[in-house]
Amino acid sequence: MARIIIAVDGYSSCGKSTFARALAARYGYIFIDTGAMYRALTLYVINQGIVNSPSRIVEELDKIDISFKFNSQLGRSEIYLNGANVDSRIRSLEVSSHVSTVSAIPQVRDKLVALQQFMGRDKGVVMDGRDIGTVVFPQAELKIFMTADPKVRAMRRYNELQGREPFEEIERNIIERDHLDETRETSPLRRADDAVVLDNSNMTVEEQMEWAEQLMSGIR
Ligand code: C5P
Repeated sequence: MARIIIAVDGYSSCGKSTFARALAARYGYIFIDTGAMYRALTLYVINQGIVNSPSRIVEELDKIDISFKFNSQLGRSEIYLNGANVDSRIRSLEVSSHVSTVSAIPQVRDKLVALQQFMGRDKGVVMDGRDIGTVVFPQAELKIFMTADPKVRAMRRYNELQGREPFEEIERNIIERDHLDETRETSPLRRADDAVVLDNSNMTVEEQMEWAEQLMSGIR
């Protein structure tokens, strides 16, 4: 079968990356976590002390280089910001609490969308985010829109952070980010008309993969 683009969009912390990564491994595709790209850019502007100034952020955009490098020991790619590995620093609650406002700046989106389109130019990619099926690759052959109960999502993120951040704060942040992502003017989070919905509140990763394999066999 010809290699395709698989767009995985949906709400915060509903296991998009875990699912998308497993799907990419299953089909020998490249996995691209676009949320990590918005997080790395947010980390940069936090470090520069300009996170609350959209005009300063826009001025700095040309100085921000974001890339992925494969780590053979981990068996996955890690994200780099201006040549430094920031993979373990982009999930902090500080970054999470600013990322949605930074991502709402149109010039930030223009920059990262162009980079994402370049990364997916040869197809054979699973890209996860909020606007992949609507804006980045509206022509993607398969679009999946993921959702899950907010409490389940907060518990997953809590476990991922190994209890380093309080559960209530994580839950509040998830609900807040959903709201900001859905109501922003540029590329709001919404299901593409031709996306298939996956509610994984009560599904294991294996069950999600079986579901996806069925969809893929329909495309072949
Ligand atoms: O996927 P993740 O939760 O890591 O994404 C972090 C934030 O980045 C989201 O809450 C959203 O504000 C932003 N984002 C976006 N567009 C994407 C991916 C992420 O606006 N394609």
